[in-house]
This record gives sequence, structure tokens and C-alpha cells, in this order.
Amino acid sequence: MENFLISPKEVKERIYSAENGYLLADIREENEFADWNIKGSTNIPINTLISEGNYTAIREKLTTLPKDKLIITICARGINSQVAASILREEGYDALSMEKGMKGWNENFDIYKIDFEGFYIVQFVRIGKGCLSYIICDKATSKAAIIEPAVFIDEYEDYLRANSMHAEYIIDTHAHADHFSGGMELAKKLNLPYYVNDIEVDKVFSFKSLKDIEVLSLGETKIKLLSTPGHTDGSMSLFVNDTALLCGDLLLLESPGRPDLARTKNETVKGAGILFDTIRKLLPSLKDDTRIFPSHFTKTLIRPVTLTLSELKTESKPLTMTDKDEFIDYITSSIPMTPPNYETIKKFNKAGVMIPLDYAEDLEIGPNRCAAR
Ligand SMILES: [Fe+2]
Repeated sequence: MENFLISPKEVKERIYSAENGYLLADIREENEFADWNIKGSTNIPINTLISEGNYTAIREKLTTLPKDKLIITICARGINSQVAASILREEGYDALSMEKGMKGWNENFDIYKIDFEGFYIVQFVRIGKGCLSYIICDKATSKAAIIEPAVFIDEYEDYLRANSMHAEYIIDTHAHADHFSGGMELAKKLNLPYYVNDIEVDKVFSFKSLKDIEVLSLGETKIKLLSTPGHTDGSMSLFVNDTALLCGDLLLLESPGRPDLARTKNETVKGAGILFDTIRKLLPSLKDDTRIFPSHFTKTLIRPVTLTLSELKTESKPLTMTDKDEFIDYITSSIPMTPPNYETIKKFNKAGVMIPLDYAEDLEIGPNRCAAR
């Protein structure tokens, strides 16, 4: 039996191919759609009507869609969207349901390879979730490090294999709160060391602490470890050959990283102050053409997701603030909603435990909310 499904990867390919014979119909309710959606999709909010079994109203709404296009229905997890697609087909439409819905959309990556003298930075852009992970690769030796891997660890393994790169170690810049780390799982699978600052994690699993390491090498490529607290107490940045700064959630393109997750209100104000001190100390030590690679993005359409420091200073107002109180006010005055399930996600990341992939994907549903504004 034909299942009338389309995978999130195929949907992405259709969007990128710029063919226009399809329409993405997102059936979630208006508030869910407004919070997080696929660019170019249309909202036909019938999810509740489906749960209520109100088929007259459902048909009325669905048949407003154009009949000359393939309709791809989307919901949160790809269940009710199958009902919508089936009703559309009964009404004579060509309709498919996107597998796993927005949860599945989170599995999509775009990959960019950025060429530097002596090394490459490969940026993995998780387009739905707004998470960025990296491979740093030394050109002469093909030795590589994997930074901030997501739970879809095959993405990195496949890339390494296809490009004859040899992974030496894995690093997380901090314990993430909005997505699960694939670091420990990948380290176990590839038999590699996993590095994180020990003050970021519970010491209940096997890892190497970044705290007292000044430099890690990949052949002639040198990665300086910089302590850059603020977003979290143990956040680290990686400065590759004094040229490319992988800064975790310190400097996102839209704003510095939020200092409030897993902190009380008073601790958040203190965290914003630490963020200010870190930024004021770090920026003068960097050249204006230093390329900044954050670990997340929210709204920016810049691809790959990177700017030079001088460009970032123009984009991100708080970087030019010299008054600490003004900075703290700015950062703490309109912090976005907390990411769903962040306490659970952080707890597992701190314990170095990987939960089953499907459950992890469920908990990760939603947009990225790591920027302070
Ligand atoms: Fe983070």
C-alpha cells in the first residue's frame, strides 16, 4: 500500500530546487505556527478540528487550497497531517504528508566548507532547529575535530568518511540546554576522547576536561582554548590558528547568548555581568577580520552562519556597549521564552547520557531560543 509520505529531506530538496508545483500546508494552530514554521509554508489551522472529528469544517478549510499543486501537509509530529492529506486526496487533490512533521524537519542539515589557510571549518547548519556544529580539519594531515555534535551523529561520520578526514577528538563548548549533545555517543562509537569543561557537567562519566588545557592540536593547526563564561559558567571558545573563533553561545549573530537558563533572577543578572566582562576582555584581543562562528542562530539568513568581528560589531548592538549596567539592562530586559524541556535536556547533557533518538527529537521540538534577544 502506498503510504503517501514525503521525507523532510525531500521537502527541503523541493524548496531548494525552486520548483513551484507544490504548497506546504501547515495544519497546526496559529500560535504554534507563528512560533516556528517552515519558510514559505501556509497555515491552515485544522489540528484541533481533526482531534474533534469535525470533518465538515475540515473539508471546508482544506478545499480552499489550490487544486493544481501538490499539497504537502505538515503538523507537529506527522500524525494528523496524514489525516489531512487523506481527506485532501478524497477531495481529488494530489497530497502527501511530511514524515514526522516539524519534529522531522529538525533532522535537516545544510553543510558549508569554509577554506582558511592551513585548515577548513565545516559548518553543519541544522536548518529547523537553528543549531550549528562544526568539523575543524587540518589540511596537511586531514586530522579533524568535531565540535558541538547534534544527536544525528551519522551526519558527521558520513561527512568524515566521504572527505577522508580522520577525527581525533570531540568537543562541546558547554552543556547545552536546547538540544541534546551527540558528543558522548559519537566519542564512544568512534573511540575518541570527548572534551568539555568539567564545571559544565556531572562527573559521572568519562570525559577530558578543557579547563586546564591551553591548546589542542590537529597537525599544524592549533586550537587555543579560551575561557569565555557568561552564557554558562564554564563556557569555552575555540580560537583556531588565531583566525577563526568558534565561540559557542557567547556571540550569536543576533545578540550574545542568553544568561538565564538554569539560573535564578539574581544569578541571571550576575551572569549578564560576567557576559559583559568576558566580551570586553575578549574583543580587544581579536583582530577585526577574525571570523566568528557561533553555535546557534535564530533569525539570521546569512549563510554560512558567520561574520567577521567588525561585521558583527555593526550587527550586534551590545558588543559596542561600554557601560556594564546598560549592557545588563539590555540583555535581561526582554529575554525570550525558555526553550521547551530545557531542564531535562540540560540534565541529560550534564550526565553525558544519550536518550533514545526518537524521545530526544520529541523533547527538542521548537525553534532555537539561545540568543538573549
Ligand atoms: Fe547554549
